[in-house]
Amino acid sequence: VSVPDSVPDLAGHHVVISAGGTREPLDPVRYLGNRSSGKQGYALARTAAARGARVTLIEANTGFADPAGVEVVHVGTAVQLREAVLKAAAEADAVVMAAAVADFRPASYAEGKIKKKDGEEPAPVALVRNPDILAEISAERARPGQVIVGFAAETDDVLANGRKKLRRKGCDLLVVNEVGERKTFGAEENEAVVLAADGGETAVPYGLKEALADVVWDLVAPRLGT
Ligand code: CTP
Ligand code: CA
Repeated sequence: VSVPDSVPDLAGHHVVISAGGTREPLDPVRYLGNRSSGKQGYALARTAAARGARVTLIEANTGFADPAGVEVVHVGTAVQLREAVLKAAAEADAVVMAAAVADFRPASYAEGKIKKKDGEEPAPVALVRNPDILAEISAERARPGQVIVGFAAETDDVLANGRKKLRRKGCDLLVVNEVGERKTFGAEENEAVVLAADGGETAVPYGLKEALADVVWDLVAPRLGT
């Protein structure tokens, strides 16, 4: 399924990829975060560039070096990620949301470090919902024919959950992987099923994240307008 570097099937197209995981600050030294490494998003960026695309990579907290030939935007929080994605999506042919976006953020940010108080239990942390970026860009396509891809890590009934999520988000493709012990977080490899809004289902066997990235582009390319 993977296309050699010499086939520039994404040439002339601008793709936007989000990668990593957002961090939601509680105070100057603490945050709520998640375990997304960003490796899948970087693999998507490298493979898209190799296939000739103009690539904008919106990166949250990965610590990785900027890939050659890719425009990189660095963000921290979900709200910053939303802003950067909306801006880049305005002139994108495809948007792939590989980033893990924190569903909630602390309702308030303490300007000073939160300190312990003698003999007192800590106050509960109130949370508010973050915007759903994937649902928003899918509902209001910045360009007609723009292709939008989401990622979902699921447990239990993985495919049924994935189908429901694909419908709820309104995106064109959803890459679903099962989370478990050795799977997904920080690994070099991944196993997934790519669900399409038109009913398609593409199983991607356990392998390098680069290979999964190439399958994603194999599915995006024919859906792009010319
Ligand atoms: N996503 C997003 N904005 C959010 C949350 C998620 O854009 N606030 C995107 C992710 O980048 C991913 C997809 O939505 O591409 C699915 O993320 P997931 O966490 O599985 O979806 P949720 O709707 O948050 O569902 P859940 O309650 O299962 O976490
Ligand atoms: Ca979520």
